[in-house]
Amino acid sequence: MAATPPVRTSDLRSRAKEMALERAKKARVPADLRGLGDTRAMLRGGPTVPAGLTLAPSPDSAVPLLGHVRSFQLQEGEKRLRDLLRFREELGDIVRFQFGGITAHLMANPDHIQRALQEKNKLYGKNTRGMHKLRLVLGTGLLTNDGESWLSQRRIAQPAFHRRRIASFGDDFATASEEMIAQWTEGEPLDIHYEMMKVTLRIVGQTLLGTDVTRESDAIGKAVSSVVEDVNERVNALVDLPPPFPTRRNKKLQIAMDVLDGIVLDMIEQRRASGESGDDLLGMLMDARDEETGESMDDAQLRDEVMTIFLAGHETTANALTWTLHQLSKSPTVARRMQAEVDEVLGDRRATAADAKDLVYTKQVLQESMRLYPPAWMIARSPDEDDVVDGYHIPKSSLVFLCPWVTHRHPDHWEDPEGFDPDRFSPERSKGRHRFAYFPFGGGPRLCIGNNFALMEAQLILATIARDWRLDLVPGHPVEMEPLVTLRPKHGIAMVPHRRR
Ligand code: HEM
Repeated sequence: MAATPPVRTSDLRSRAKEMALERAKKARVPADLRGLGDTRAMLRGGPTVPAGLTLAPSPDSAVPLLGHVRSFQLQEGEKRLRDLLRFREELGDIVRFQFGGITAHLMANPDHIQRALQEKNKLYGKNTRGMHKLRLVLGTGLLTNDGESWLSQRRIAQPAFHRRRIASFGDDFATASEEMIAQWTEGEPLDIHYEMMKVTLRIVGQTLLGTDVTRESDAIGKAVSSVVEDVNERVNALVDLPPPFPTRRNKKLQIAMDVLDGIVLDMIEQRRASGESGDDLLGMLMDARDEETGESMDDAQLRDEVMTIFLAGHETTANALTWTLHQLSKSPTVARRMQAEVDEVLGDRRATAADAKDLVYTKQVLQESMRLYPPAWMIARSPDEDDVVDGYHIPKSSLVFLCPWVTHRHPDHWEDPEGFDPDRFSPERSKGRHRFAYFPFGGGPRLCIGNNFALMEAQLILATIARDWRLDLVPGHPVEMEPLVTLRPKHGIAMVPHRRR
């Protein structure tokens, strides 16, 4: 579908405001997730345990009332990540935390991941504090919804991610990558995170939503950073007043949401005005009819779906690529082997979808990079009923942290866990590995709908870069992980491009 430049219409702003209020209502955090639910637990620093069951071990840094809020939840990013690894090492595969009245467990064993995401996925729902906060931004789109209405949304969107359809995007992936690298200058430093955000944003807009957002990418980038920081602050905040309150935080969120809502509502408006729905994901969403009522989605629903794809469909892939380029700059042997593969497969021609199957090592590099730097570093769930895991009591409505960051480094499943070794993902060495020792895209029915899209896109972007350029880290540039909703580089990543041909 031809890309059309967005045109702003006069009533978009007021409609966006109405929708934001609706979302704020839906995103209200239920009492048991606000930390007010189990006051006795809050005073005692732990939940009530049914007879015959034990509480999982817990770090001894808890203080009365707040539990681990100060010693863990409010820790600065990298320390929090390191602490998670240490807790697992010292206390075992299930670690309990107390955040005020909220009990949370880190479950690190692949068997636990399989239980929560696959075997007992109906029990472990998405009714978590983080999801409620994310709903302020995404509303109830595919990522944040649950139950029957999620299933019908998933059925509508699924055909847009069929392998054949993804293959038809190969040319878009390659063209966007070529145009990006054509702007680079020998020896002139770039923020590679910014570059990756721009190219993945352009791709998701073009392939799935039929819109060219290149001109707006700076404004979108700023707004996206602002909302992911905001959601993170809200999840960790002891007090968080919802959007109708004119707090500093709420005003800042409103400014960012105005930008994103304006762009998303424009896309919908443009498509309606064209008189054709089109055969991309946006078209499928617009054509979808409710099985019982025969009604199509209203603008608020469409907005939530489009916003979800727009944000979930570029930020994660951009982070995966950024960390991969960073790893490659630190691992010259791996970089040379990948370049040799790219030279052999592409020579000096443009990449195509058909090359993805031959860029085997390039894919392994990406997989290994997502093992060490999983863009979705933490997946949260909350059981609707009490559960017992490894003899430990997991109370109803508590939080469960499934953390690729930790499980991807589990020493029982990964030899030399901190080493960067893409050969781990060769077919021979992958044999016998627990299916849930590696889950950068989640698993079970809620497996990332965009996983094959993301892999092919990232493979072709990476191969196009490696064909023409070598990227070196700017000496002294601070590289720090920031675990927000996704795992981002806190200060961007400054790299210098050097021509290979
Ligand atoms: C490297 C890139 C990506 C990573 C690491 C990633 C990771 C994930 C993870 C872990 C989940 C599951 C979340 C949960 O269970 O709570 C998820 C879900 C989702 N992802 Fe991705 N994702 C990536 C790329 C994409 C792309 C390119 C798209 C769309 C174009 C996308 C759209 C979605 C959507 C809509 C969901 C919700 C699916 C559902 O619940 O039915 N993601 N992603």
